[in-house]
Amino acid sequence: MSQVILQTDIPGLPKFITGKVRDVYDLGTELLIVATDRLSAFDVVLPTGIPDKGRVLTALSHFWFDKAKDIVPNHLLASDMDTIGARLHDAGVVVTAEMISMLEGRTQLVRKCAALPVECVVRGYLDGSAWKDYQTLFGHGGEVKLYDILVPIGLRQGEQFPSPLFTPAAKAHTGHDTNITASQAAEIVGEDVAAELSTKSIALYNFARAYAAERGIIIADTKFEFGLLDGQLILIDEVLTPDSSRFWEASAYKPGKAQASFDKQFVRDYLQTLSWDKTYPGPELPQEITDKTADKYREAYHRLTGEELPQ
Ligand SMILES: Nc1ncnc2c1ncn2[C@@H]1O[C@H](COP(=O)(O)OP(=O)(O)O)[C@@H](O)[C@H]1O
Ligand SMILES: [Mg+2]
Repeated sequence: MSQVILQTDIPGLPKFITGKVRDVYDLGTELLIVATDRLSAFDVVLPTGIPDKGRVLTALSHFWFDKAKDIVPNHLLASDMDTIGARLHDAGVVVTAEMISMLEGRTQLVRKCAALPVECVVRGYLDGSAWKDYQTLFGHGGEVKLYDILVPIGLRQGEQFPSPLFTPAAKAHTGHDTNITASQAAEIVGEDVAAELSTKSIALYNFARAYAAERGIIIADTKFEFGLLDGQLILIDEVLTPDSSRFWEASAYKPGKAQASFDKQFVRDYLQTLSWDKTYPGPELPQEITDKTADKYREAYHRLTGEELPQ
């Protein structure tokens, strides 16, 4: 197990963006994306990290990038420390052994893209914000319109849709993203791009769902991000990780209630026992909770890839 990394600093390298989980550095036409061990719950980044989490997210994203490269090209250029160390050196950074060991396994060198402001959510099962919204709808003729898509009425929480839905969200700078319809997405990115986002996202989801199903995991829903580079659509950010997806244990699946999430369930359950009001700052987590959560992230990696997390 590696040291828990909550924040990073690479002296001499400008930050491109600090996300909830990732510290992103600017290398001109490239970016260095460092996944920390930060965990957010209810959209608040907690003060306690999860051991190995950044390494699991990075390794799992690489696994899927590679598997899905024939469906859509992705942003990844390199993740090995020789290439990354040399690139940092070229950028004028004094590269130390300590820096390399901090970055190892959690860092990707990627092509910098214009990130599209639409989050590409695909839902195979009804849960989360879609379940909340679905319950407010009234349908007729056996169907109801969810974000403008016809779906059956009377579905229970966690039930599978007849076919996966593309339900984009407008990317919010802070707080929750907002669910939008496909035509609203087309207003933001243009009709052709929106159509391609939908087709690619559903193809990626179908591919991953079938793969995960063979390993006893249901991918209930997931979120992709795409960027544009020279007019071409590129898959960016993280892919099909426990942070960007709902992974459920297939053997325990029972629609009609909330399913245990594969990753943050221990954290959510613990937080519900507190009187925390779900606003910043969040509470520290006890070690028992962080250990169990770390095991869940590692298990997701192991179950999906068949490999142990590289040390
Ligand atoms: N190849 C890329 N080009 C440009 N931006 C990227 C690329 N890959 C990821 N990003 C951006 O880097 C950030 C990753 O940080 P993260 O912690 O995941 O952010 P968030 O809090 O928005 O989830 C996101 O804003 C994402 O859009
Ligand atoms: Mg993110």
